[in-house]
Amino acid sequence: MTSVLEFESITKEYRGWLNNRGLRALDDFSLTVETGEIFGFLGSNGAGKSTAIHLAMGFMRPTSGTGHMLGQPFGDAPTRRQVGFLAENVALYHRRAEQLVRFYGALNGLRGRPLATRVRQVIEALGLGHEARRNVRQFSRGMLQRVGLAQALVNDPDLLILDEPTSALDPLARVAVRELLLRMRKDGKTIFLSSHLLSEVELVCDRIAVLDRGRLVRLGRTSELLECGEQTEIVARGIAAHAFSGAVVSDGLVTFSIPASAQRVTLQRVWELGGEVVSVNPLRRSLEELFVEVTKGTSANPQPELRP
Ligand SMILES: Nc1ncnc2c1ncn2[C@@H]1O[C@H](COP(=O)(O)OP(=O)(O)OP(=O)(O)O)[C@@H](O)[C@H]1O
Ligand SMILES: [Mg+2]
Repeated sequence: MTSVLEFESITKEYRGWLNNRGLRALDDFSLTVETGEIFGFLGSNGAGKSTAIHLAMGFMRPTSGTGHMLGQPFGDAPTRRQVGFLAENVALYHRRAEQLVRFYGALNGLRGRPLATRVRQVIEALGLGHEARRNVRQFSRGMLQRVGLAQALVNDPDLLILDEPTSALDPLARVAVRELLLRMRKDGKTIFLSSHLLSEVELVCDRIAVLDRGRLVRLGRTSELLECGEQTEIVARGIAAHAFSGAVVSDGLVTFSIPASAQRVTLQRVWELGGEVVSVNPLRRSLEELFVEVTKGTSANPQPELRP
């Protein structure tokens, strides 16, 4: 695998004004995103996610450290043509939706029939077919987010960077975007997304990183991070609920958890009791539980202030 996005020991300090002290939004932040993965970038409000994304896009420079996107240093203009980007606050010119998407396509070097075809494809994919000729000035927040996604996709990017892509979308649109991202991954594209919608992240992301007050506090494969490791959940039928401590009965199924090391003897016991094992699974926690644990409820806590 090759990396498409690399943050290398990046620190970003925002300078303060007058009495206002500055603030360290990213602190020695390093992260590598590999080709072909959907990567979830998590963190409380103010953790530094958008700052990291804006640095990668070259909108500003780090205070120290470096970074590479598709093999080029952050801020390299030609590389932008292979990247799709959706900002967390979608700000669009007051034009017709289709005109706007065409404008971004042209900006990325598309012309003529390929441009027209691609604009139609992304407009349809985002469910904007009926709204394409309306001015985005009149659009709802979710509709604006759809246009934002359409413009991010119009150049068929190798790397898609999305800052809160589905926060305003209705459930059907979220499903459509999820399927779209999975299709892109199948085509070998890379997706880097920040989100507070942890259930969505859990469903699509191969790996996740959690940022806390500018520092990386957790990184790993989603499935591994959510495994509790030591516990296994067993579902059985045809046994009495009291046969195993802590068992819960629902619809004739008896569910209980045991230490993973006791799995073999427990299954044997179920069979001896005349029961049938329906499933055996490593116990998983939700991403929400993991998030609360690693950020220790530090939401909205200030970043370290800089000395004046
Ligand atoms: N232009 C700026 N000038 C000064 N401070 C800034 C600026 N932009 C962001 N910050 C500060 O940097 C910190 C990180 O902000 P950032 O927007 O990167 O967080 P975030 O993780 O994207 O949060 P959210 O989940 O709310 O979008 C915050 O404390 C914020 O106040
Ligand atoms: Mg943000």
